[in-house]
Amino acid sequence: MSAIAEAKPETKNAVLLITDPLSEDGLQPLRAAEGIELDICTGLTREELLGAVKTADALIVRSGTQVTREVIEAADSLKIIGRAGVGVDNIDLEAATERGIIVVNAPDGNTNSAAEHTIAMMTSLARNIPQAHRSLLEGKWDRKAFVGVELKDKTLGIVGLGRIGAEVARRAKGQRMNVIAFDPFLTEERAKEMGISAGTFEEVIRAADFITVHTPLMKETRHLLNAGAFEKMKDGVRIVNCARGGIIDEGALYEAVKAGKVAGAALDVMESEPFTGHRLLELPQVIATPHLGASTIEAQESVAIDVGRDVIRFLSGEPVKNP
Ligand code: NAD
Ligand code: MLT
Repeated sequence: MSAIAEAKPETKNAVLLITDPLSEDGLQPLRAAEGIELDICTGLTREELLGAVKTADALIVRSGTQVTREVIEAADSLKIIGRAGVGVDNIDLEAATERGIIVVNAPDGNTNSAAEHTIAMMTSLARNIPQAHRSLLEGKWDRKAFVGVELKDKTLGIVGLGRIGAEVARRAKGQRMNVIAFDPFLTEERAKEMGISAGTFEEVIRAADFITVHTPLMKETRHLLNAGAFEKMKDGVRIVNCARGGIIDEGALYEAVKAGKVAGAALDVMESEPFTGHRLLELPQVIATPHLGASTIEAQESVAIDVGRDVIRFLSGEPVKNP
């Protein structure tokens, strides 16, 4: 064979930067993919991230990495950003669009986990489970302080009946709750099929004993549950947020709990995370988890596999869907 025949055009591997921990099952197809060089660096400082993204062709993140305009502009050859999860609110979509960078997410992979977490939070709230556990650890045997309420026959108001909201509705019906939901796309027909009621936002918040929010965080949903909304709710309502911080006005929630209007709140997310030291956590009626809605083995495998598959497809020139 001649030297000329042997010479092949030099093909450069695409650099895929991963800056948040991904499940090993999700990483395997990426490790095995031809033409992709993996660069896994988690826990980066802002400066380190700006340096690491410079030569990346693709970037995969969870919710930990803030993909700001500054990060996007520091990237010389970035073509795709994959979000292993649902919410793309940690990515500056405007800046990505301006640079022609495609953003893909994994919308279905953590639906069950987030719905199960919502039900777990609602039940824990109704029965004071975290507070009772803490009291036991303090050496107390107090059965009077933690009398709860049943879910059965209570009305659950769901704001946002998308993937997770609908799964929560199904499970709440299993608890024999009455479910009423508001979603701009919810028709009477669909509500009937699901065995729930459809209402306006105001009808839902007025009727509910428990309210759970499952919308994305957008201009229209920021502080959807605010002081005015709390005023319209039943006395002793309980609130659950396993969607996004910012949908609830935290100052208004604090006042409503202090005033006894809201009997309790279960929060997986807050406006600014991590939220250790938040004043809402000082209230005994408030229980919280550190953004654990999608933190199951199954969901993490699933979102990593889904987003990895889209990134591999894109880097091989195949079409992918934007969120
Ligand atoms: P989805 O897109 O399937 O559903 C969102 C629904 O909200 C849609 O049906 C939409 O029509 C509705 N909606 C939009 N604006 C509304 C408004 N003003 N009032 C009422 N409804 C409105 O999304 P999803 O997968 O069900 O996720 C829901 C939320 O949960 C998102 O914010 C997502 O980021 C969050 N999430 C959190 C965790 C977690 O770890 N805590 C995990 C997964 C998803
Ligand atoms: C999501 O939007 O998918 C969730 O907030 C879960 C996460 O990324 O941890």
